[in-house]
Amino acid sequence: MTDEWLWWKDGVIYQIYPRSFADSNGDGIGDLPGIIGKLDYLADLGIDAIWLSPINPSPDADFGYDVADYKDIDPRYGTMDDFLQLIRAAHQRGIRIIMDLVLNHTSEEHPWFIESRSSLENPKRDWYIWRSGAEGGQKPPNRWQSVFGGKAWEFDERTGQYYYHMFTRQQPDLNWRNPEVYTEMMSIFRYWADRGVDGFRLDVFNNYFKDAHFRDNPKKIGIRPFDWQVHLYDTNQPEMMTAVADIRSILDSYAERYVVGETFLADTKMTASYCGSGKFHAAFDFYSLLKTTWNPGRYLHAMQRQDDALPVDAWPIHVLNNHDNPRIATRIRAGKDDEKLKVAAAMLLTVRGTPFMYYGEELGMRDIQVSRSEIQDPVGKHYWPLPVGRDGCRSPMQWSAEPYGGFSKTTPWLKIHQNYLSRNVQAQQADPDSLLNFYKYLLNLRRSYAALRGGLFIPLHHEPQRVLSFIRQDNDHRILVALNLARGRSKLALGGDITRYQWDVLLSNKKKNQPLFEKGWLKLEGYEVCILVQK
Ligand code: GLC
Ligand code: CA
Repeated sequence: MTDEWLWWKDGVIYQIYPRSFADSNGDGIGDLPGIIGKLDYLADLGIDAIWLSPINPSPDADFGYDVADYKDIDPRYGTMDDFLQLIRAAHQRGIRIIMDLVLNHTSEEHPWFIESRSSLENPKRDWYIWRSGAEGGQKPPNRWQSVFGGKAWEFDERTGQYYYHMFTRQQPDLNWRNPEVYTEMMSIFRYWADRGVDGFRLDVFNNYFKDAHFRDNPKKIGIRPFDWQVHLYDTNQPEMMTAVADIRSILDSYAERYVVGETFLADTKMTASYCGSGKFHAAFDFYSLLKTTWNPGRYLHAMQRQDDALPVDAWPIHVLNNHDNPRIATRIRAGKDDEKLKVAAAMLLTVRGTPFMYYGEELGMRDIQVSRSEIQDPVGKHYWPLPVGRDGCRSPMQWSAEPYGGFSKTTPWLKIHQNYLSRNVQAQQADPDSLLNFYKYLLNLRRSYAALRGGLFIPLHHEPQRVLSFIRQDNDHRILVALNLARGRSKLALGGDITRYQWDVLLSNKKKNQPLFEKGWLKLEGYEVCILVQK
């Protein structure tokens, strides 16, 4: 590793959904001591930072994304001491900690909201978005919709007004235009940075501000009522830019702190507009890998779109999985073996940008199927029988073939995938060809070659149909990556200099000593990952 190593740029970030990672006390819910007990596993895997989905006290209307106290830890996850110990123990292993801050809304059980709804005169009244109904109070103030279903306005009998919520009605939106709220929000960053937290993932940050005049959105065609509107006035307001700059300047007053934003309803350009110096270090462009279908040309195009949109002083990030979307293994119908997932892993870990992994991705965990009575996710409940719930990708981590996959000693809060008997950490550690060992190898390769991290990214084809191939290059190394996304053999026309150079194979899941090139062609087996370094 060179001196210029910057953890959030060179490193790999691993998302943990704490409820589902490791349960240390046998209540069926994952917790912080459970995570501490798995730090050696994570260090050995070779990741550099952990992003923890929310661990603040929460009544769990949206499983932690409805916070009842920003400056404490949910007792089911552990104590403040446990969290401080997690930070220390992670740092000892060179692993950073990123916290998820959900500052767009609180839980309806947050003391602020309890006060706010108590009377029109309460000093916290204006901390949330309260409006009188339209047409003499009979109708909601405007036509805004909640993304989780139904109207975005909830009538509150006690004071005869409506409050606004973009998500469930148990998640009232804060009024970021109120200076006290703003100051309080900024204090949360300092509170955790002072305790050693290295970075923050900001939940739906581009939703903090809504139109000052509460104008109705223009209409459009769509599937759910939420999609019948162009979200011009309920999201992405220009006022956000001041908050972005303020957050960044707070973090810049500490050493090497990081902020990554989760954009909501934002295209690649809008997402990129929040990034760069004086703004956020990064924001999720879900249109790069996560929302793109299995096709090399489309992946390349999406990544280039992200690069084009980002200012030169920003850095791309890539993600294949998270807690809101079906896992890639399920999305691309990986089948029984993990060959296709090896190709996906190699793409994520060798293209230009910071990779984000999601727990269990390294095992090729598949989504669970939940019956109606098993649904936990509020989105799944509201839209049933539409298959849009997010429980599928949140099932417990599969550690071993023990009961409940070694996740817990008791029935977990969400069922474990039945394939845990064979698909688990212990089994894959013992199998040299497993996906887990493949990830480990790739992560190690990334660590060993700076060219794979900060190097140039030079695609070898413009609209590839079967193979994604590119060069990663810095002053020290030229690395050729060729990924065959097709089931059948492919050959890649290279010709020219590339075939005259001498190459060493850094990694191939298929090659066994056969010649690399044939008359200027690089030959690839189906789903082959081939990574070469110039001698
Ligand atoms: C973000 C989170 C999602 C949550 C929502 C509301 O999109 O990723 O899980 O439900 O915000 O907080
Ligand atoms: Ca527990």
